[in-house]
Amino acid sequence: MRLDKFLAHNGYGTRKDTKTLIKKKLVSVNDNIVSDSGYILNPDNDRVTVDGELIEYVENVYLMMNKPAGYICSHDAVEYPSVLELIDTYRSDLFFVGRLDADTEGLLLITNDGHFSHAIAHGKRNIHKQYLVHLEKPFDKRFISELLEGIPLDDTILKPATVEMIDDNKILLTIAEGKYHQVKRMMHHCENEVIYLKRVKIGSLNLDPSLKLGAYRDLTEEEINLFTA
Ligand code: URA
Repeated sequence: MRLDKFLAHNGYGTRKDTKTLIKKKLVSVNDNIVSDSGYILNPDNDRVTVDGELIEYVENVYLMMNKPAGYICSHDAVEYPSVLELIDTYRSDLFFVGRLDADTEGLLLITNDGHFSHAIAHGKRNIHKQYLVHLEKPFDKRFISELLEGIPLDDTILKPATVEMIDDNKILLTIAEGKYHQVKRMMHHCENEVIYLKRVKIGSLNLDPSLKLGAYRDLTEEEINLFTA
């Protein structure tokens, strides 16, 4: 890994900030000052210090899971087990990028990288989430334009949401926010009830169709870059 990237990963600011630290000759690898930001190091073996302080390397984790129903997005299993129980090697530093309800399935991102999570949840780019929604009764099409204009929820007006009809009782709903029970409450506003919910897409990242319920895999570099580059 490049030295500037390694420093940025470990909380020493942006790549530009880390280049400045390196230029100021504050960074050493194995006790030798390194002045080349592009220096390639092995994070597992090399000892990197900044102004004499040793960096404890924390590997970043980025997982995509096909969340099954009956699991909660929390470290503490209360009524249901935690989705983290489905992961082979438990790490206490993992968290969820946009939680899903216990009865919701589908695309769940799990990471230990706060910048990554922030870029998706609070970034300037509007990252949309798409849900497959099965409804108790046929979706009333007069709500399509209302959702597109923005409906009221929690004392605010939601950003435009789009509806694609699959059949009378099934829609693909694309929303911009990630409020508590948002889809269920939006459908309630549309005088309907959700009977099955699955997140299928976040931004331009689709749920990998080869992932069975409960299975997960690492995100690829390109997938991570969809949100951070
Ligand atoms: N909206 C909901 O109502 N539930 C979810 O799990 C996700 C979005």
